[in-house]
Amino acid sequence: MKDEPGRDLSAIMVIFGGTGDLTHRKLMPALYNLVYDRLLPERFAVVSVGRKEKTSEQYREEVFKSLNERSRNKINPEHWNRLKERIYYVQFDFTDQSGYDRLKTFLEELEEKHGTGGNRIFYLAIAPEYFELVVQGLHDHDLSASDGWTRLVIEKPFGRDLMTARKLNDKLREVFDEGSIYRIDHYLGKEMIQNIMVLRFCNTVFESLWSNKFIDNIQISLNEKNGVGSRGGYYEHSGAMRDMVQNHILQILSLVAMEPPVNLKTESIRTEKLKVIQAIEDFTPGHLKNNVVFGQYGRGVIDGVPVVSYREEDRVPADSTTETFVALKLHINNFRWAGTPFYIRTGKRMGKTSAEIVIQFKSLPEILYFNEGYKQVPNLLVIRIQPNVGVFFQFNTRDFSTRNDIIPAKMDTSYINPALGNTPEAYERLIYDILRGDATLFSRWDEIEASWLFADKIIAYRAEKKIDFPNYEAGSMGPKRSFELLAKDGRQWWEV
Ligand code: BG6
Repeated sequence: MKDEPGRDLSAIMVIFGGTGDLTHRKLMPALYNLVYDRLLPERFAVVSVGRKEKTSEQYREEVFKSLNERSRNKINPEHWNRLKERIYYVQFDFTDQSGYDRLKTFLEELEEKHGTGGNRIFYLAIAPEYFELVVQGLHDHDLSASDGWTRLVIEKPFGRDLMTARKLNDKLREVFDEGSIYRIDHYLGKEMIQNIMVLRFCNTVFESLWSNKFIDNIQISLNEKNGVGSRGGYYEHSGAMRDMVQNHILQILSLVAMEPPVNLKTESIRTEKLKVIQAIEDFTPGHLKNNVVFGQYGRGVIDGVPVVSYREEDRVPADSTTETFVALKLHINNFRWAGTPFYIRTGKRMGKTSAEIVIQFKSLPEILYFNEGYKQVPNLLVIRIQPNVGVFFQFNTRDFSTRNDIIPAKMDTSYINPALGNTPEAYERLIYDILRGDATLFSRWDEIEASWLFADKIIAYRAEKKIDFPNYEAGSMGPKRSFELLAKDGRQWWEV
């Protein structure tokens, strides 16, 4: 995180949803760690807005508790006091118009006190049904216009299909210009996701082979051992398609497949990412029939502990048809990728938690050594996003312990060392970028629009289809058909 000298980072960050899960689990720990790393400016304050009645002092105590549970750096009095004296709590219901006026007066007082020059960040960490209401409130009560800059940060889901996303976007654009809207996809804040472009565009050996000429297939897997936990109510209306594919997976896909941008400016990068999503083959129901697999978890065992099925989770109907797993084969129809399949997969209650991109290179002709009975293993490059962070590479080499055998060598630079792994959490990076006004790691509207165009077709197909759920056991690696999806192409999901 380098900063350009002279950039004014002073601001007040107003968090709508200040008592919510996201604020306690991610946003406050991120702010604390920014203080810890001396990246938060002196002129900074946080105002948390929530419905519950409480004083700022009580709120700070709650934050302190969350930090102790969640922060990657230890909580010490020096850094905590610096943050604490900048945290405030304001109570009001988003439907209560007088609340916005009170907030405005309060912000003006704080701007005076903290010298933040009218720079304001409005962070919507609330349920999506309130997005438009709050933005309207900000506009009607003149909160979105100040002497400084104002930025709007919006969490996913950005709409639930193309139509609702457009409607939401139109509403936001009545109040904020495109450049001031920061649409969060927290995967973009992860270290290894940011590293994809560096790996590709800073290494001759990777970039020169990065195409359909040398790559057999690419696999993107985001697996989680977790079930839906207490989020059954939300998940029931979302499913894996809206929860993971439309956003995180498509963002990763576009970084893996994009052309080198003409420079590293935000808009140049976003433009190349968009082109990837636009080039994804057009799906018809007939085509999807053989290329998509949906799943829902049944009961099973995770880490030795029996777990319930999705349909038994809190706030999930006993006959739910929501998918908790998706596997999909797709093609990107451009010169670089035509003919190379991309397999994507995401699921809850899987046998392991891991986010990885596997690049499988084409095999060599089966002559010379491979004609002599030695088994050829393909070259695999694995970009490990989490929990391991780093790169794995597999290649063939001679086994020195025998006379002449060929064996796969596995080079792995990835680690889960608690000390080394103490990398900035995605939200630290994202909040810091919002302060700096750098929107590179946020989605532009046309990317979201193209993602929904893609996802809507699959969701519509899913809605029409009758599937016998549950169809995979918790703790497994998904439905049998997901393995068949690759097996029928003579391929397999790699777990390396
Ligand atoms: C969120 C989804 O966007 O990403 C969750 O709503 C999912 O369902 C989470 O668990 C995964 O994020 P991470 O950072 O834990 O991999």
